[in-house]
Amino acid sequence: MSPPLKTNILITGATGYIGGTVLRRFLAHPNASSFSITALVRSPEKATKLRPFGIIPVVGSTANLPFLEDLASKADVVLAMTNADDHSATQAILRGLRTHHNTTGNTPVLIHTSGTGVLTDDAKGAYASEVIYDDTNLAQLETLPPTQLHRKIDLAIINADAEGYVRSYIIIPSTVWGLATGPLVDLGVQNPISMQIPVLIDASVDRGQGGMVGAGKNLWGNVNIEDIADLYIILYDAIVANPDGPGHGRSGLYFGENGEHSLYEVGRAVSQALMATDCLKGESAEPTTFTKEEIALYFMGSESYGTNARCKSKRARAIGWRPVRGKADFLSSIKSELEDGRWKGAAKKFADTIRIAHRL
Ligand SMILES: NC(=O)c1ccc[n+]([C@@H]2O[C@H](COP(=O)([O-])OP(=O)(O)OC[C@H]3O[C@@H](n4cnc5c(N)ncnc54)[C@H](OP(=O)(O)O)[C@@H]3O)[C@@H](O)[C@H]2O)c1
Repeated sequence: MSPPLKTNILITGATGYIGGTVLRRFLAHPNASSFSITALVRSPEKATKLRPFGIIPVVGSTANLPFLEDLASKADVVLAMTNADDHSATQAILRGLRTHHNTTGNTPVLIHTSGTGVLTDDAKGAYASEVIYDDTNLAQLETLPPTQLHRKIDLAIINADAEGYVRSYIIIPSTVWGLATGPLVDLGVQNPISMQIPVLIDASVDRGQGGMVGAGKNLWGNVNIEDIADLYIILYDAIVANPDGPGHGRSGLYFGENGEHSLYEVGRAVSQALMATDCLKGESAEPTTFTKEEIALYFMGSESYGTNARCKSKRARAIGWRPVRGKADFLSSIKSELEDGRWKGAAKKFADTIRIAHRL
């Protein structure tokens, strides 16, 4: 008797903060023995460390488009968690999935990672927007122009689903917070830190005070790293249980939030953490406005921290997602994250990301 066929899952970004956490969850899935997981990684050393987990590591870059396309053509499911702005890589994955469909007759699944940066405005911290995006309100979502951050890539994915050769699902996390944990972190394979909060901590330690853009009135959603990883599993399970069940394509945008915060509240929590660790330079824990020079120094001149990105995760909750950690946990995590110290260098990494994205 031949062994049952395995589900071929391709993971990109498996060494990342989100990707590593999602990979850990897939390895612990009750049906893990029926998965054949291929992870595209850039580092040969990390590939070697991944092999004992029963993963097939392949060394390469998403910039090698024919290679990426070929990997995707062999996958039943692609979990894409590298770079929400990499249009060429997304197109290569889609070409591979089209080949998969044409050669097998099956419709593969793409679960792509975007971000609520797609919702941002130009508030510069001056106000809390009244616009709250609802991921079940297609008319509202479709007002987002292709010029919004991540949107060009998201639209390419939605259009591919409409062509019928792939079922696409786009997870759109808000500010993901908390340190990643587990064996991949312990082995030095996985990046344990997020971006937004570590960058703010890095900048704030340097200036000795929590900061904000303008008055810090702008609002963003937040979601814990373990809670957002839950969403990938719950969505995957829902798709397997009923491929026609969870919304896909233009109905397949899944925001990830479990509460929202103003930048002022985050700046104050950072200041309070600085005070508790004797790193506060000023007298008061009130955050102060970043000067133009500081915005240039810490954020490559970007005022993205002063934007609004408000949303409601209705679609994820409708398929059973139940995030458990909320805003109070988020704000209180800032002190332990500061004490942990692994934020060091986050501002530089952020600057490099902006430089690459804007070809500076
Ligand atoms: N963290 C958040 O709060 C958040 C919120 C919303 C959306 N997102 C989005 O989610 C995605 C992942 O974020 P993250 O926080 O997990 O980032 P991360 O920790 O920096 O992980 C990025 C992953 O992508 C890999 N990667 C990058 N470029 C690659 C390339 N050319 N070829 C192959 N692999 C490549 C990295 O590999 P290496 O280990 O080799 O560097 C790493 O595994 C990003 O698009 C981000 O914008 C993140």
